[in-house]
Amino acid sequence: MAEGTKALDNRDGVWKSGKGKGRHTPKGRQLDDAAWTEVQTLLGDRPRRRDLLIEYLHLIQDAHGCLSAAHLRALAEEMRLSQAEVYEVATFYAHFDVVKEGEAVPPALTIRVCDSLSCELAGAQQLKAALEDGLDASEVRVLRAPCMGRCDTAPVLELGHHHIDHATVEKVQNAIAAGETHAHVPDYQTYAAYVADGGYQALTDLRANGDWEAVQEKILASGLRGLGGAGFPSGKKWGFVRGNAGPRYLAVNGDEGEPGTFKDRYYLERTPQLFLEGMLIAAWAVEADVCFIYMRDEYPAVLEILAREIKVLEDAGVVAKGYIDLRRGAGAYICGEESAMIESIEGKRGIPRHRPPFVAQVGIFNRPTLVHNVETLLWVARICREGPEVLNTTEKNGRIGLRSYSVSGRVAKPGVFLLPAGSTILDIIDAAGGMADGHVFKAYQPGGPSSGILPATIDDVPLDFDTLQPLGTFIGSAAVVVLSDKDRARDAALNMLRFFEDESCGQCTPCRVGCEKAVKLMQADKWDQPLLEELCVAMADASICGLGQAAPNPIKLVMQHFKDEV
Ligand SMILES: Cc1cc2nc3c(=O)[nH]c(=O)nc-3n(C[C@H](O)[C@H](O)[C@H](O)COP(=O)(O)O)c2cc1C
Ligand code: SF4
Ligand code: FES
Repeated sequence: MAEGTKALDNRDGVWKSGKGKGRHTPKGRQLDDAAWTEVQTLLGDRPRRRDLLIEYLHLIQDAHGCLSAAHLRALAEEMRLSQAEVYEVATFYAHFDVVKEGEAVPPALTIRVCDSLSCELAGAQQLKAALEDGLDASEVRVLRAPCMGRCDTAPVLELGHHHIDHATVEKVQNAIAAGETHAHVPDYQTYAAYVADGGYQALTDLRANGDWEAVQEKILASGLRGLGGAGFPSGKKWGFVRGNAGPRYLAVNGDEGEPGTFKDRYYLERTPQLFLEGMLIAAWAVEADVCFIYMRDEYPAVLEILAREIKVLEDAGVVAKGYIDLRRGAGAYICGEESAMIESIEGKRGIPRHRPPFVAQVGIFNRPTLVHNVETLLWVARICREGPEVLNTTEKNGRIGLRSYSVSGRVAKPGVFLLPAGSTILDIIDAAGGMADGHVFKAYQPGGPSSGILPATIDDVPLDFDTLQPLGTFIGSAAVVVLSDKDRARDAALNMLRFFEDESCGQCTPCRVGCEKAVKLMQADKWDQPLLEELCVAMADASICGLGQAAPNPIKLVMQHFKDEV
């Protein structure tokens, strides 16, 4: 057909003439060639697998400081995903900055100031206000953030990826001037030192001629229970996972987001290979095809240590390349809930799944999955190396075993303390050097905000699994925060509910709306207690996961034990 002639009919502006209202581009946001090339270069020859979406969002955010609409569009193209899918994942996680067309990009530097309980007690609000006053907002932005797992050095902030302990404005200004924005990796026990100390002998022997059921028996005999908070007997869980047909996976929960908890970081920054050997023993026991390690983005030094040490294991031939798949979280407490973590490992939003089926049956990629907390696996290695006696010969107050308490708040020497599982709050305060100068013991959080607050009068109960349920609480991850006569329990409870409000995934109404409503009600001088009680019942009864079910605990316990404050 000659140029300029019309197809089908002679009317102007109809098909093929190109002069009428015809569409020149596909519908929707257009693909920007430059952004596409940048994304292709960043991804290189990495596989375009859907489950790697969050890893690739990190690559772009790290390189460009934010996620522009053009880059998200390009990533969707490259991954063969819809823009909506990429966008919904990117906007779910606090550490991704999505910037649409016409919006301002964030400044080059970000400071995240922790405002969870221990940091708030140490003056986080005043610190944040002073930083906002003292720094140029066009160069540095100051954001509030949840617990960074460094509660023993509160107040804490993160400048870029550099954590500043006992933070002050002056320390921040000095760090900015010195360009100190990267994670500092502490000294830790290397692979060579670990092997020289007998490390990996247990794994080697088991792989050569071990009987997984004998190991399971040892784990059961030790009394080891899940140290992520739920306390499920670890040996039993192996049996459930192993009872389902393969292929199976193992997933390590390194999310450690429960405010006040820093034991996993403590161990990983000291003995990473002990944890890795425990993980490989558990993986051997359930015949896992791949070990995923889901590590929170708030622990950049740990991410660096693990990346290095996994490479060492690959080079030493302990594992095949790719057998351990290290995944980086992106700032979402709910991804510590095991099914939400699995969603995140699959590259999706961290939204908890309904149960049943349990993850031991239907986990990662719908395959049976063994999920363990970091510390649980550390104990697996110790039990295999030292025998079940390492745990089951310690007895105190009728309780057997050991517990790693993360202790912070108004104590003289905050830190992680490995104590008998039968320890009371007085034993724990004692281990932490007693109360801080000028503070009188008034109350405590026994196991993260999900556990609420108990008064100092309850001081003879062992802080262990099963012992606190009659008091309407539980030990959880053993994150103990001590409050003093200088603190109000109601303020601590409000801090906890603000955390849950921020971190609720929003999937169920009782949790999403309930946390928000509770925060509003708890700000009143006098609490509307009947209404709060009603709200607590609805949240506990009708929420899908542990976040919404346990969020009322601080409210209920303050109304029960600190009536004069509310
Ligand atoms: C809201 C919520 C947050 C959780 N956060 C963590 C976490 O940060 N780390 C963890 O190991 N377990 C966490 N858990 C518990 C996990 O769901 C799961 O029970 C645990 O990882 C299993 O490992 P374990 O048996 O070794 O404890 C959380 C649970 C809930 C409901
Ligand atoms: S209880 Fe809260 S965090 Fe858990 S699934 Fe429901 S909305 Fe999400
Ligand atoms: S680091 Fe601030 S409360 Fe844990």
